Parts: sequence; structure tokens; C-alpha cells
Amino acid sequence: MTQYKIPVIPGDGIGPEIIAEGCKVLDAAGEEFGFDIEWIYYPHGADHYLATGELISEDTLKQLSAYPVIYLGSVGDDRITPGVLEKGILLAMRFYFDQYINLRPVKLLRGVWTPLKDKTPEDIDFVVVRENTEDFYIGIGGRLTKGRARDVLEVHRSIYNAKFELDIETDSEEIAYQIGVISKEGARRVMYYAFNLAQQRGKHLSSVDKANVLSDIYGFWREEFATIAKEYPEVTTDLNFVDAVTMWFVKNPEWFDVVVTPNMFGDIITDLGAMVQGGLGLAPGGNINPEGTSMFEPIHGSAPKYKGKNKVNPIATIWAGAMLIEQLGEKQAADSIVRAIEENLTTGKVRTYDLGGSNTTSEVGDDIASLVRNL
Ligand code: IPM
Ligand code: MN
Repeated sequence: MTQYKIPVIPGDGIGPEIIAEGCKVLDAAGEEFGFDIEWIYYPHGADHYLATGELISEDTLKQLSAYPVIYLGSVGDDRITPGVLEKGILLAMRFYFDQYINLRPVKLLRGVWTPLKDKTPEDIDFVVVRENTEDFYIGIGGRLTKGRARDVLEVHRSIYNAKFELDIETDSEEIAYQIGVISKEGARRVMYYAFNLAQQRGKHLSSVDKANVLSDIYGFWREEFATIAKEYPEVTTDLNFVDAVTMWFVKNPEWFDVVVTPNMFGDIITDLGAMVQGGLGLAPGGNINPEGTSMFEPIHGSAPKYKGKNKVNPIATIWAGAMLIEQLGEKQAADSIVRAIEENLTTGKVRTYDLGGSNTTSEVGDDIASLVRNL
């Protein structure tokens, strides 16, 4: 029997409830497909931060880097300034492990209602490949009240370093600035991943940018995309401005197969994607470093108001669990989990409130786990 050790970070709010269902379903898949998982729990999140002052330390990150995958619930808590946990834990891990691919399937499963009129599961089935380490997410910026100042801003990544020495002068009462960076290495690696994925799927790749206005940063992205496209003559491509892409996701989702996007636009369009596929309760994501430690999570947040109510939909997390186990090479187990989710949704008897049902989080997890055992 194959033995996996998997770190799990339940996190805040509804995190522990949804993660419990994800682990339950993965354990059931293990029984069926011949592997056993030892879950290694990490307490990181709001309570741990309030008790110890640790967001996520270098020491913890080092420990975690010994594993190929991590399972994450959600972070974010009302008691803590917005952004502290998100940046200090979630983004810290994405950057530390250099998880340069944020893979977010936008797939309407059978049995799910979409707000898009007349669209079916045949029409809504694409994957967003979001760059996950650069762009306006690198976290460098500052503020200046009227006058003059110097600022040194630095980004350190395993693939490159960059340093900005700013000499700023303003007669505005106060200004704020944020610097976005895209590197050649950073753009190319995510684009290669997306082209290879498109080659295995419908052979169509759409790129997202805003090169008509933010022409330095996204003009560069567009140029790299066009260069790499020449190496994939069998993949058809199109270039889209992000505003237009939001329109096409709603009007013609069937046009899309694989979508590659810089970080910030990817954040925005995948919330739209989640709605198109039936809601945030159904949208999973993977933060992937193909050569390192990857991390799987639902794309929704910690929904503090539902904490402890055993009410929210665990499907996004269970589906993220399927992506996690696929990353470990257990393709059959992953497929069987997705099939079990679809069976649960088409039967429609055990559903949480967001899908019009009245079942609990754990009842949905139990149902999907038993479907994994019996399908
Ligand atoms: C996401 C989230 C995160 C992001 C936040 C919580 C930092 O919105 O995973 O999409 O912006 O990437
Ligand atoms: Mn987001």
C-alpha cells in the first residue's frame, strides 16, 4: 500500500469544517485505490497568530517544503486587519514554494445551475492558468505625503531579484504607489505550462492582458506570449483585454479551453469563473510548483459568518482534494472523486443551502465519500 504524508492547514472560519470533509473523501478514495494518507496538522491561522504571533515562520515553511503537496482550508478572520493573514500565510506560502501556477478549472458540473441562460456543461468547461508569483502581487509600494523622499523596494525570487531605488517628489497632499513586475522567466514558465495543457485539451489558448493601457508590463506579457505561440503551431491562440474577457466569459464561455493570465487579472476573472460554474462553493484551485511543493485549496475565503454552523458547501474543497491526489499521480482516484461529486450533484438529494438544499456540510461529505466507495 502506498503511504502518503500530507500536511493540512485547516485555517480560519469555515476552513476546519470543509477540510474535514475533504480529508474524509480522500481517505475513502485511499481505501478504494490502495493508498493510505497520514494527515499532518498545522495550526496556522488567526487563533495561532493571536496566541503566538506567528503567521508562518521560516522554520514551518522549511518543514513543509519536505512534502510534495499541502492541503489548505482558508485563512482570514474578522479579529485581524484584512490582508495580514492572507499575505502573511497564503501569499507567503505561494511565494516561498514558488507555486507559479494557479490552476483553476471553470467547469459546470452536471446537475448544477448556472446563471448563464441556456448554457450547459458542454459550453462551460475551461481552465484558467493564473500566474501566481508576480505582477501587482509582489507586494512593493509605498506612500508619500507632500514633499520628497527616497524609497528602496526589493523583490527576491528564486528565479530573479529586482531592486527599485525611488526618488519621489510630490506636491499632492499624499500619494500611494504600487509596483508591478513581470519577468521574462516568470511569464515564460507559466505560458509553457498553459500551452502544454492546451495541447492535451482542446488545443486553444487565450491570453489575458491590458496591453492597451498598461503597455509596459502587459505589452511585455503579450510579446512573450506571441513568441512562445510560434513553438506550438497546433494550438490556436487569441489575445484578449481583461475587460473584454469578462464579457466573453458570460456571453460565450464555450469559446474557451485554456486561459493564461497575469496574477491580478487572474484573481478577478476566476471569481467570475466561479459564478459561471455555479458558485464559489464549487470552485477549486491548485497552487502548483511542478518541481516543488504544491498547495490545494478552495478559491473561496473563510466565510466567518458561517463558522461552526456545518452549513457551507464542502465541494470546492473536496474537488481541490481530487486535484491534490492527481498531483501525487493518483489519477484514477482523482477521477473517481470528481465522478462522485457529479453523482451527488445530479442525484440532487444531499445538497447544502447554496444549491437549494438543506443538508449539512458533513452530510454532503459523507454522501460523496460513500459514492467514492460504491461507484
Ligand atoms: C485568491 C484570493 C487571494 C488572492 C487573497 C486571499 C490573497 O483572493 O486565492 O484568489 O488574491 O490571490
Ligand atoms: Mn481571489
